[in-house]
Amino acid sequence: MCGIVGYIGHREAYPIILKGLKRLEYRGYDSAGIALFDGSDIKLSKTKGKVDDLQNRLEREIPTKGTLGIGHTRWATHGVPNDINSHPHYSNSGNLVIIHNGIIENYESLKKELIKRGYTFKSDTDTEVLVNLIEDVKKNEDIKLGKAVQIALNQVVGAYAIAVFDKNKPNEIVVARLGSPLAIGIGENEFFIASDASPFIEYTKNAIYLEDEEMAVVRLEKGVKIRKIKDDSLVDPYVQELKLNLEQIEKGGYDHFMLKEIYEQPNAILDTFRGRMLPNEGIIKMAGVEDNMKTFLNANRIIVVACGTSWHAGLVSEYIFEDLARIPVEVEYASEFRYRNPVITDKDVVIAISQSGETADTLAAIKLAKSRGAFVFGVCNVVGSSIARETDAGAYTHAGPEIGVASTKAFTTQITVLTLIALRLARAKGTISSSEFRQHMIELELIPEKVKKSLESDDYVKSISEIYKNAGNFLYLGRGYNFPVALEGALKLKEISYIHAEGYPAAEMKHGPIALIDENMPIVVIATKKGHYEKVVSNIQEIKSRKGKIIGIVTEGDQQVKALADHVIEVPETIESLTPLLTTIPLQLLSYHIALMLGKNVDQPRNLAKAVTVE
Ligand code: AGP
Ligand code: GLU
Repeated sequence: MCGIVGYIGHREAYPIILKGLKRLEYRGYDSAGIALFDGSDIKLSKTKGKVDDLQNRLEREIPTKGTLGIGHTRWATHGVPNDINSHPHYSNSGNLVIIHNGIIENYESLKKELIKRGYTFKSDTDTEVLVNLIEDVKKNEDIKLGKAVQIALNQVVGAYAIAVFDKNKPNEIVVARLGSPLAIGIGENEFFIASDASPFIEYTKNAIYLEDEEMAVVRLEKGVKIRKIKDDSLVDPYVQELKLNLEQIEKGGYDHFMLKEIYEQPNAILDTFRGRMLPNEGIIKMAGVEDNMKTFLNANRIIVVACGTSWHAGLVSEYIFEDLARIPVEVEYASEFRYRNPVITDKDVVIAISQSGETADTLAAIKLAKSRGAFVFGVCNVVGSSIARETDAGAYTHAGPEIGVASTKAFTTQITVLTLIALRLARAKGTISSSEFRQHMIELELIPEKVKKSLESDDYVKSISEIYKNAGNFLYLGRGYNFPVALEGALKLKEISYIHAEGYPAAEMKHGPIALIDENMPIVVIATKKGHYEKVVSNIQEIKSRKGKIIGIVTEGDQQVKALADHVIEVPETIESLTPLLTTIPLQLLSYHIALMLGKNVDQPRNLAKAVTVE
């Protein structure tokens, strides 16, 4: 995820693009760049760091003149954040320049082909491959830029929002979208391009939102011509009048980043397995795992180190790795591990999980493990973060920036990555059959739609929140794969609503917490059909006999728990190992609504920081 901005018209483009990038910085902020057409050539400046860093550098480096330009604030997916990998990217001839938000999955094979044809590459990005592919098509077929973009995009697998222009045709910008947002602001013979409307809201209220698989040629004097990328059919532009204010636009129309991020999960999970999992071909491919397959297969055990929500994702992975790949797993709080003189050998694989990649305790645990000879694998969201750099190898979650302090999409995408790794290792070890392997992939592929379905419980969850918002305590219970989800549900409620909540393995309840239960205690019980269902139903009976209030998270169509519980929230059916990806959704929504009803600051809860960079 990243922010893209473009301008073509009669005003100076630089101040518009710069301000636009500042507004889009919430979408990604590891590097930034701007390309301007100065009347005869393209002038480009880009840098690792924030838009402020770019401003300092650009104003020293290039003239800021020109009425055509494009700008980018990056959130790296391919290639670490550095000056060279920053956008915009030139084509080899220097005629074309591009900005891109998204992932080109088949960039490796396209790159090989282009190298054979004599193209060279400066950066590690998938984006530079795309701009050269466009150039190659344009050159070979001697066609206009719009047509070349269309032909090139038909060869591309992945997700994108792009803007590209040709210095020999400085009266147009070509844009296209698949999976990443792109809006075109329409002024008086001037046009604005952006990931959302925030960069141009003060110039025009008229905007066209491109749909997936559409491209547009935005030309001065002529206007906007939209086509379907696949079949070349023309699309009537639908110009909307914007009614949102700036803040609402940045949050994608949601009231809070947390809610936006909860709703982003279907796409975030898709982005996580996109290009890595091919169910039809029976393949899971992750460079960090393939390159170190021997180490993984020879490992005596896996030690997971993480904090908070990432630790909960680690706990889920313990079930997955042991169940599927039959590798013993220990899951450690990074803060305990680092001070415990743990027994670690070069036969251990340590997996460090972190959204931010900056958590001080996790970083220290990694250093300790490395100093004792272990191989350390990172699962991070932020590309080029300290943990990503410190680990021997790793896999990114590709969830896009998570701004809300309460982690949501990081959790589900971490579980997705860890599932992919476990499946790959299981297949390599032969602990699952090829049909089981395929079945898991098919089920995982269905998860984004099922998460969408789970999100439909939102209104109902809100009505339950209204009933229990004043409770002083909550208990969350789950078994097996859903025990860590119970812990995660309780953490979410604690951190944003400040209500005391405890997560417990359902069967442990009778060894203590059962004493707390009375008619004032709401108890969230995860009781999906797969996984110890009958046992959990018995636990629910025990709660009911003590008059506790039961909120059941159940599989669609469930009757047994429904008959016992005060409320049931349904999630679609899936295989047991993937249930956490669905059961966690209503728990995120429950904490969100309760916190909001109590008037708490959902995105920035008291005493907490998004990245805990201190001990
Ligand atoms: C989650 O909602 C928390 N804000 C917190 O527990 C977080 O997961 C923890 O600090 C770890 O952060 P990391 O994933 O960035 O390392
Ligand atoms: N895949 C591109 C890169 O890593 C674009 C990432 C983005 O959306 O910022 O540069």
